[in-house]
Amino acid sequence: MCGIVGYIGEKQAAPILVEGLRKLEYRGYDSAGIAISGENVTVVKEKGRIDNLQAEIDKVYPVGTIGIGHTRWATHGIPDHINAHPHTSMNGIVTLVHNGIIENYIEIKNELKEKGYVFKSETDTEVIAQLFDNLFNGNPVETMINVASRVEGSYAVAMIVKGFSDRVFTMKKDNPMIIGKGNGENFIASDIPAILPYTKDCYIVKDNDFVELTKDGITVYGLDGKEKEIEINSISMSVDAAQKNGYDYFMEKEIYEQPKAFRDTVSPLIKDGRIVLPFEFPQGFTKKLNRIHIVACGSAYHVGMTAKYIIEDMARIPVIVDIASEFRYRNPILNENDLCIFVSQSGETADTLASLRESKARGAFTMSIVNVLYSTIARESNGVIYTNAGAEIAVATTKALMAQLGVCYVLAAFLAHEKGLMGDDILHQFTDEILAIPEKIERTLTTDDITKEISGYIKDRHSMFFIGRGIDYPLCLEGSLKLKEISYIHSEGYGAGELKHGTISLIENGTAVVAIATDDALLNKMISNIKEVRARGAFVIAVVKEGTKGIHEVADKVIYVPSASRYLMPSITVVPLQLLAYHTTVLKGFDVDKPRNLAKSVTVE
Ligand code: M6R
Repeated sequence: MCGIVGYIGEKQAAPILVEGLRKLEYRGYDSAGIAISGENVTVVKEKGRIDNLQAEIDKVYPVGTIGIGHTRWATHGIPDHINAHPHTSMNGIVTLVHNGIIENYIEIKNELKEKGYVFKSETDTEVIAQLFDNLFNGNPVETMINVASRVEGSYAVAMIVKGFSDRVFTMKKDNPMIIGKGNGENFIASDIPAILPYTKDCYIVKDNDFVELTKDGITVYGLDGKEKEIEINSISMSVDAAQKNGYDYFMEKEIYEQPKAFRDTVSPLIKDGRIVLPFEFPQGFTKKLNRIHIVACGSAYHVGMTAKYIIEDMARIPVIVDIASEFRYRNPILNENDLCIFVSQSGETADTLASLRESKARGAFTMSIVNVLYSTIARESNGVIYTNAGAEIAVATTKALMAQLGVCYVLAAFLAHEKGLMGDDILHQFTDEILAIPEKIERTLTTDDITKEISGYIKDRHSMFFIGRGIDYPLCLEGSLKLKEISYIHSEGYGAGELKHGTISLIENGTAVVAIATDDALLNKMISNIKEVRARGAFVIAVVKEGTKGIHEVADKVIYVPSASRYLMPSITVVPLQLLAYHTTVLKGFDVDKPRNLAKSVTVE
């Protein structure tokens, strides 16, 4: 949510900032802006996408080798030119960009107004700028520390301070920020892809770090104002990961990268038919494990729901799945025999992070399944399993979800084996089946043609339903979310047996219903449910395993997918659902990668 970049070096800053912002545009695209430091600070900002900003830059030509930039996802104030970042304080002391939310901004704003400060925008960000201006004592680091002691909420801030034109400063709390270390140049960014073309060496800024950057130095101070030792990490991600490589959209590329994402994630966890986790549970923990809580948002929550079916069935451990924004405020019952699992692509989702902290405070063992290296959720969990899906740029998640599913299969088998419910031989057989999944995903990608054809039927529908039972049910939620998220067609995912408890009244002539029926034990029940909606005029698209009998008679269109163990089917079934959403959106002419009102990383609650 909002992307920040910064550059300090010997090259012209504006092109580097704009390129960085393009890499971070998935974090928000309501407006964008840059500030270039020199004798004076030049601010260029514009409503809308980075291309609009570039057009303005082409008129102004801001010259300078130091600057900061921002791409906005609007929270406080409409997405217009005035609310766009950077914001400069009334006396011109500071110009800054911000990602996050200042919760006590009204209180501070009123105080500052009484002191004569005049505000131009509706943003909470401008409050940070004016407060810095008001507290400025000639020392930017001390002033940042004083600002941090006044503001409540979350922030990552990059700033240029008057009189310090050879430096850039940054501070953060509960929002990501990294420093890229170059040769005679340094970088600031909200996420790794923005700095990858220039350097692989980075410092992950910690909460309450106050950073002073020159072109040759990175100095980090703590809350006590003392200089800190810092550790520079080397990033393994390649520049390629953040490029489209010939595909029309990142989402399409990422769908096609799923066999690799799955393989790269599960392979390091499986050795000779046994499971090797990258961390250890406390001694004896898995034996006395009482309950598992899985907490996540959006698609990651659907992964949690899928994992519930698998873990409960295989390992006979009760699993409670929560949406993070509910979990954190519902006073959950947790103790030291509970395992809390947090699933997150970005590793920065505000509600998931807060839930993690709450669970830790209540004594539960916490583990996370995270894609972004060194992200806050990954760092703060007792144990982390990284999904090696690589950079996921499209707002709609695909390959990260696929990799998360892979981890869940492995974890379910690990727990079943630990509990003595799965012998070595069965475990070996199951891990072999997991390792065979990438090839099956590859084959499932051939549903591209039929899903494209079916998109032609659904692109003009106003409403759609996805129905399924058992392990197919969470996928209905996922297929539905994916479709509505990017194509803006209203859609709902339902347990097929639940539809007749109210929602079936919405089915009328031509309503499109995707019916997922991959579980043999539930097939006949699904066929009955399909007949029920068809009798009311629904246009039914069935998703079933190859060889399924009796489906053509009841469905208008059938998508056949390869067969796998019942537990592993979600990795297969999800592919045509993703393709359906993708092709429908392309046909409708919308921007697949950047759906309206959304951002990739939701760092506000
Ligand atoms: O980064 P996270 O996995 O924590 O994000 C969670 C959700 O915001 C995310 O899955 C969202 O629902 C996707 N845009 C769905 O495609």
